[in-house]
Amino acid sequence: MMHQTIKGSGVAAVKDPYLCLEGINKKYGLIEVISNLNLEVRKGELIALLGPSGCGKTTTLRMIAGLITPTAGRIAVGGRDVTRIAPHGRDMGLVFQSYALFPHMTVARNVAFGLEMRGLSRAEIGAKVTRALGMVQLEHLAGRKPRELSGGQQQRVALARALVIEPSILLLDEPLSNLDAKLRDEMRTQIRDIQQQLGITTVFVTHDQVEALSMCDRIVVMKGGLIEQVGTPHEIYEHPATPFVASFVGRTNRIKGVRNADGSIGIGSSLIRSASSVKPGDVMVMVRPHRIRIDWSGTERQGETANRIAASLSRITFVGDVIQYHFDVDGSEFIVEESTIKSQAGHHPGKQAVLSWAVEDTFVFGADQ
Ligand SMILES: Nc1ncnc2c1ncn2[C@@H]1O[C@H](COP(=O)(O)OP(=O)(O)OP(=O)(O)O)[C@@H](O)[C@H]1O
Ligand SMILES: [Mg+2]
Repeated sequence: MMHQTIKGSGVAAVKDPYLCLEGINKKYGLIEVISNLNLEVRKGELIALLGPSGCGKTTTLRMIAGLITPTAGRIAVGGRDVTRIAPHGRDMGLVFQSYALFPHMTVARNVAFGLEMRGLSRAEIGAKVTRALGMVQLEHLAGRKPRELSGGQQQRVALARALVIEPSILLLDEPLSNLDAKLRDEMRTQIRDIQQQLGITTVFVTHDQVEALSMCDRIVVMKGGLIEQVGTPHEIYEHPATPFVASFVGRTNRIKGVRNADGSIGIGSSLIRSASSVKPGDVMVMVRPHRIRIDWSGTERQGETANRIAASLSRITFVGDVIQYHFDVDGSEFIVEESTIKSQAGHHPGKQAVLSWAVEDTFVFGADQ
C-alpha cells in the first residue's frame, strides 16, 4: 500500500482502508489543482477535508463521487477500482453546498427520487422515505415544497435524500455553510449522530476548523492542491506539522527567532526552549495565545518545563468570551488570551510582565517551511 508523500508528519495509510485515493492528480488544462494526493479512509470513519478556498476540496470530493475524472491516479472502494465507474455505479450519497432540491416536488418526493430511479416498489419507497425523514426529524414536513422550508430544513432534506439510498459512502460538501451559527451547531451534532448510528463512511468538506475539530475522526488539512497533514483533531491541534497547519487550525502567535547550535532559541534578547527539532538558523516560533500565562508581578515560581520571557503590555482588546493582551517582546508581538472571567482591571499599556508557557506548547519551524 502506498504511503503519503506529504510535507507533514501524518501518514494517511491506515489498516484495512475502505476508500483509497492513490496518486491522484487533477489538471485543468495546464494547471494542476490536485498533486499526487494519497489518502486512505477506514470504514465507518468521518474524515474532514479542511483547507482555505481554492485548495481543491470540492475537486477531490467530486473525483470520489465520479463527477470529475482524475487526470492520473486510482480510486478504490472496498478493494474495487471505481476510477472509471460512472457516479450512479459508485453507490455514494452526495450533499452539495447549495441544497439542489427539486423546487416543484414535495419534501417526500425529493427524498424518494433516488429510490424511484432505482426502481424500488412503492411500499419500499414509502418505508425508506419515512425512515430517512425521521432521521433528520422532518416527518411532519413531508408534504411541503422546498420554498416553504427554512435553510436548515432544506439542508436536512438534502441529507435525507443522500441517506435514503443507503450509500456506502456519504460525501458532504460544506453542508452547513449556509446556516446560522446556532443551527450549524445543531446540525453538526445531528450529522455526527446519524453518521455513527449508521456507521457510514463519510467525507466532509469544510473550511471551518471548528467543524472539522468537533465532528471528525480525522482531518486532512489541504493547501494548494497538496495535503499538509493528516491526523486526529488532537494530533492536528497539538502537533501541527507545518506553520500553515498551526495557524489554520486554531490561533497562534508567529514570532521570529533564531535557533542556536546548543538547541536554545533566541527571541530578541531572551532564550527559550522547544521540543521541536529544527536546523540552526532563522526560525518561526509559534505559541497558542491561550497557552501563555501572564505573571504581572514577575515573581511567580515556575516549573522546569516553562519558557519565561519579559514583556511589555502594548494593547488590550476585549473580545467577549476572551480578553486579548498584546505584548511587545523586543519588537515581536505576543498575544495572550484569557477568559474574561479571569480578567482584571488596572492593566495599562506600558506595564511590564513575565510571560510563561510550557516547552511542549512551543512549536518551532524552519524559516523555509
Ligand atoms: N472547471 C474548472 N476549470 C478550471 N479550474 C477549476 C475548475 N474547477 C475548479 N478549478 C480550480 O481548481 C482549484 C480548486 O477548486 P475547488 O473547487 O476544488 O476548491 P475548494 O477547496 O473546494 O474551494 P472553496 O472552499 O472555495 O469551495 C481552484 O483554484 C479553482 O479555481
Ligand atoms: Mg468547494
